[in-house]
Amino acid sequence: MSDPALTVVEFLLTTRVYNETRSLDENDLPPRFRQVFWSDTDAADDADETDASSADEPAPPGEINRPLKVTDSVARTATGVEHPWEAVSDLLFTQREEFSGEISLTQPEMALEWYLERVDDEQLATNPTLAYTAEDEEGVTVSYDDARENNRPIQADRVWIDALLSQYFDEDDDAEMLDLVSVRAPEEIEMTLDDLVLTTDQEEEIQKIVKAIEHRDYLASIGLREIGKLLFVGPPGTGKTTISRALAHELGLPFVEVKLSMITSQYLGETAKNVEKTFEVAKRLSPCILFIDEFDSVAKTRRSDEHAALKRAVNTLLKSIDDISLIRDDVLLIGATNHPDQLDAAAWRRFDEIVNFPKPDRGMRSDILEVITQPMEIDGFDPQVIAEHTEGLTGSDLRMVLREAVLEALTEERTELTQEDLIAAVEDFEERDNLKNMDMIDGDGAALTGSADDHDHDDHDHDHSADDGSADTDDAETPPQ
Ligand SMILES: Nc1ncnc2c1ncn2[C@@H]1O[C@H](COP(=O)(O)OP(=O)(O)OP(=O)(O)O)[C@@H](O)[C@H]1O
Ligand SMILES: [Mg+2]
Repeated sequence: MSDPALTVVEFLLTTRVYNETRSLDENDLPPRFRQVFWSDTDAADDADETDASSADEPAPPGEINRPLKVTDSVARTATGVEHPWEAVSDLLFTQREEFSGEISLTQPEMALEWYLERVDDEQLATNPTLAYTAEDEEGVTVSYDDARENNRPIQADRVWIDALLSQYFDEDDDAEMLDLVSVRAPEEIEMTLDDLVLTTDQEEEIQKIVKAIEHRDYLASIGLREIGKLLFVGPPGTGKTTISRALAHELGLPFVEVKLSMITSQYLGETAKNVEKTFEVAKRLSPCILFIDEFDSVAKTRRSDEHAALKRAVNTLLKSIDDISLIRDDVLLIGATNHPDQLDAAAWRRFDEIVNFPKPDRGMRSDILEVITQPMEIDGFDPQVIAEHTEGLTGSDLRMVLREAVLEALTEERTELTQEDLIAAVEDFEERDNLKNMDMIDGDGAALTGSADDHDHDDHDHDHSADDGSADTDDAETPPQ
């Protein structure tokens, strides 16, 4: 909506209707508007102390309190219009109070009529509050229910997430926890499903889960609760993390990401507590996606029977997984692993869908190349040929190849690439890959004293084992019990 007057009138109408209609709640305000009415967390904390109902459960962070008041600066932030009052001061139904600077509507009906004459359906559909008041007007085809359905829930707003986290983690040691768990708002996720090339199987699984989320109530009503726990299995760089994030973006859900090797490593004695906290965060942020990366580190730690703390942590993890539900808690759980062979039955059993992330075949490689080269100009570009030459490379490898080609060309002051540049970059990549393999031979040598396999993560974690008094032995070689 580019007309400044229309934008500002929409904002004024929205606040007016919202103030007058008690049945509307925060989720009826478009995110761009409600962000400016967010009361700060301190205020919310104060409110907590007097609110007995919050005794057992922390109250939601911040609140959007009526009446919403509009001043020039509030309107500027909400609408992006540089001089909001100037934009609407000529209209017959607006006024500004000299003293408080408050801008408001003198004749809301006239304002609504004026607005509806100019706004298109697409825009109206992004504003449940106005859809509510306008749906019965002549010529309006947008319904309140549809607009509300489309509107992003407040839980997905960055301000809400931050307020909640700061309220939830107020003690010092909890700050460490925040380093382990990262939370992204859907708006902050850059890669979308359109940027990714999926296998048919992956597409179907995603469709299933989107449908399951849409029809949660129905699933609950027929007693289907064991749903919404996915395990993504595949080698590094095949898109497990990226697809999970893209799904959060697509569904408009916050994305809670944690690397299991991190929570089971850093503070051994704290691990069980950290696991619990992670799930707690996810439940508080719900509806959301909880992404647990490096899920296999559980399996490894399960073998380490001398670490009582770890055992406890693993049991806590398995129990937490059992206790969380998409249907009941609105949390979609996605686990990811590069080492499916290391997961034991107890872990497998807890996922209701296993999604395979294979290395891309030729067709997929070609498609990935098409997608990632889209914004570039490449002379004589033939993705099929490159795909032919890149057997065994993942999506992430292909990105790296492309980056190399771009940087190479830049050294020659060129911003237009050629097919030859790409082929040369593939060859370079393969050379580098060989170097990497040599490195791995070194790693194998080192495996005589430890486990080469463990090198990607948790081998130094056991240093903290003093807390449960056990000896610091790397037990990855211990056979499963
Ligand atoms: N199928 C794909 N389509 C498009 N891009 C892809 C695909 N697979 C991987 N990529 C690209 O590779 C990069 C790395 O992927 P990602 O980090 O999601 O892999 P991963 O499977 O999570 O790896 P790891 O197991 O190491 O965590 C992403 O930025 C993405 O752009
Ligand atoms: Mg990943």
